[in-house]
Amino acid sequence: MTAPRVSVVVPTYNEVGNVPMIYDGLAEALAGRSWELVVVDDDSPDGTADAVRALGLQHDNVRCIQRVLERGLCSAVHWGVQAAHGEVIVVMDGDLQHEPALIPRMLDALQAGHDIVSGSRFLQGTAEKGLSDRRRRLSDWGNRLTNYFLGTELSDPLTGFFATSRRMFLDSIPLMQADGFKVFFDLVYHNRNVTIRELPFEFQRRRHGQSKLQLYVLWLLACDIVSKLSRGMLPPRLVSFVGVGLIGSIFHFSVLYTSMDLGAVFWVAQTIATVVAMVFNFTINNVLTYSDDRLRGTAFYKGLLLYSLIASVGIVANVSTAQITYVSLQGHTFIAATTGLVIDVIWRFVVSNRLIWGRSSMLRKPR
Ligand code: GDD
Ligand code: MN
Repeated sequence: MTAPRVSVVVPTYNEVGNVPMIYDGLAEALAGRSWELVVVDDDSPDGTADAVRALGLQHDNVRCIQRVLERGLCSAVHWGVQAAHGEVIVVMDGDLQHEPALIPRMLDALQAGHDIVSGSRFLQGTAEKGLSDRRRRLSDWGNRLTNYFLGTELSDPLTGFFATSRRMFLDSIPLMQADGFKVFFDLVYHNRNVTIRELPFEFQRRRHGQSKLQLYVLWLLACDIVSKLSRGMLPPRLVSFVGVGLIGSIFHFSVLYTSMDLGAVFWVAQTIATVVAMVFNFTINNVLTYSDDRLRGTAFYKGLLLYSLIASVGIVANVSTAQITYVSLQGHTFIAATTGLVIDVIWRFVVSNRLIWGRSSMLRKPR
């Protein structure tokens, strides 16, 4: 086989039923060209990786990267790009929502000198069958926010279907966020001086499986943007974690004052508020901050217990740091309290990031 010129990178999570059809669609659209399919699967329980390997036995231009420990759409795409042989990279969903028939036109546009070519769901003349009204509204908000931030006027800045050169993508990866949320958005953000061409395509309805991106997309997008504003110093997950914590503290104070109004003495009210805020923080982080890694069933309750333990150690660290700062600064309450809180948040983030969610989680089900 000659070296593939086009590498189609497809991140998958539970797409077993879609894999053979993707291949057929690509084979038809890319007939006569040299191409390969690189599927990056996060150890999907439905056996997607096995299906890809089976396909690889029939066709030598199919490869599977099965990631046992890593999670997440963005980093999956990055891995695929790093494994690709082709000079041109096409990224597309593994659920048949992106039509392979658009790819030849994308390649033409790259050939014509555009640096990034994307498939847009919203350009004039497209009918987005695949989006419900609610998703459409969410998308509108997301698009506005993203365009504002990027200084672009793209009709679909959050698309997951695009093509570019491997060189440019590889050069951008060190700047991009592995735990970020939108690969295309991130790529454009780090290459704002290049030319981008949008091509309309018809976003298809999902045929098998379930969409994984829902309401929390807007939250993740906002966290991604804050992270970029900090020049990447604050990773998106930390932004999300702190954001949830801030909302949690509003919750804390509402519960505190309400309980006291209802006649509870301070320490009782404070205890209730602390427990409620802790459960709130854990539950919301589980859904928003760690959406890729969400704990369900008994793992959820074990995680909550572990989180409470971690948080109580954090409270001790918080109070003692605050006390030391308070004494050494001779009574600067605000600075002392803030120092304590920062220590608390960092502790909670670092420890729960390692032990509860993520690759070294104690709650990962043995496979
Ligand atoms: N490896 C890996 N890891 N793949 C994942 C993960 C993950 O954690 N999460 C999702 N995927 C895969 C899915 O299997 C699918 O092939 C693709 O990534 C996109 O996920 P969907 O669940 O189909 O996303 P969607 O259809 O809701 O989102 C669409 O719209 C977004 C814009 O709002 C897609 O086109 C996205 O690419 C697009 O950014
Ligand atoms: Mn999809």
